[in-house]
Amino acid sequence: MVNIAVLGYGTVGSGVVEVIRTNQAIINKHAGDEVHIKYVLDLREFEGDPIQEILVHNFDVILQDEDVKVVVEVMGGEEPAHRFVKQALEAGKSVCTSNKEMVAKYGAELIQVAKEHKVNFLYEASVGGGIPIIRPLISSLTCDDITEVTGILNGTTNYILTKMRDEGSAFEEVLKEAQEKGYAERNPEADIEGYDACRKIAILTSLVCGRQVDYEDVHTEGISQITKTDFLYAKALKGSIKLLGTYRRIEDKVYVMVAPFIISEQHPLYHVNDVFNAIFVHGNMLDDAMFYGRGAGKLPTASAVVSDVVDEVKHMGKNIMQIWETGKLELGNFDEWKHKFLVRIHSEDIDDVNMDDVKKAFGDVLYMKADGVKNETAFVTKPMEEGAFREAVKQFPGVLSTIRVGF
Ligand code: HSE
Repeated sequence: MVNIAVLGYGTVGSGVVEVIRTNQAIINKHAGDEVHIKYVLDLREFEGDPIQEILVHNFDVILQDEDVKVVVEVMGGEEPAHRFVKQALEAGKSVCTSNKEMVAKYGAELIQVAKEHKVNFLYEASVGGGIPIIRPLISSLTCDDITEVTGILNGTTNYILTKMRDEGSAFEEVLKEAQEKGYAERNPEADIEGYDACRKIAILTSLVCGRQVDYEDVHTEGISQITKTDFLYAKALKGSIKLLGTYRRIEDKVYVMVAPFIISEQHPLYHVNDVFNAIFVHGNMLDDAMFYGRGAGKLPTASAVVSDVVDEVKHMGKNIMQIWETGKLELGNFDEWKHKFLVRIHSEDIDDVNMDDVKKAFGDVLYMKADGVKNETAFVTKPMEEGAFREAVKQFPGVLSTIRVGF
């Protein structure tokens, strides 16, 4: 029997308990041993829930119990999660987590500590909820030069964008639904403004490149400025708006960003709707691959966490090699990255926006119309450098919105 402790009895923590209790026999079979939950740590009481019998309020009880071999950290946030995890690894316990804030910031350090103590630090659920993507990157895609990873990495925003497009729903109303379903972060700003997706693409890029990508270095835009009218233009372009996190290697420079993009219906990510996430990977031998599934929610996320528990039980006393070093990866200059952009400018009549001025600022553009939209001039640029585009926009005070077009 292998004893484990679960830190945090919130949405994911209670999901971990439910997954283990529901699929105990399957889990034991794959782990090659009985997985037994000895403790659950939480500051709250859960009267009437059988979990109360194994509930502890002090992490030291778990840390000092030599019988606990695996610690499951599903509390979220940087501290005290990071402190608890580091102490557990140093005490010779393997740790798995769904905590993307902690993994993005301390992943490289914790992998190193785990290696030094011949235990494991695994974090499958930190990106893409229930979708296996970390394990494929560590164990399967080991023969490829991976030049692109582009993902829909946040379930809440994908849910909101899908409902806005299909049902014309109001932003706040759909956000409330996503919160009720347990998809959103405690502070939904992290979802809406792209911070959550930013940490996830930083984790994936760190793994692909083998070095630390600081999430603070990742250019990040959210979806709070996206309107129904933007969707009308996306439709006219035979596409849809998706919040993407993307890593690209172009001429040996690494570029990373999170932003809404209009993607065409030809792109596999176009078909990823609601709370589903997907991660598209391009390798020089593999060509294209895509990993798809539920990116948020109690049981899908818990399923990924418990898969790490199984791996850790299977690898007791043996560190699973991972390449993610603490040395910081310098990113390419964002201002030099090229994209096409949709630009919408307010214009009461056709002469308000002078075509020569547009050409001078943006180069050759493709003018376009969207059904039912009046008093606007809109166009799509050719690929332009981000920095040059930003300067061009400044010359037009009537700009209503700009969205990257592509992929
Ligand atoms: N709030 C996150 C999301 C949860 O909506 O994707 C999973 O990380």
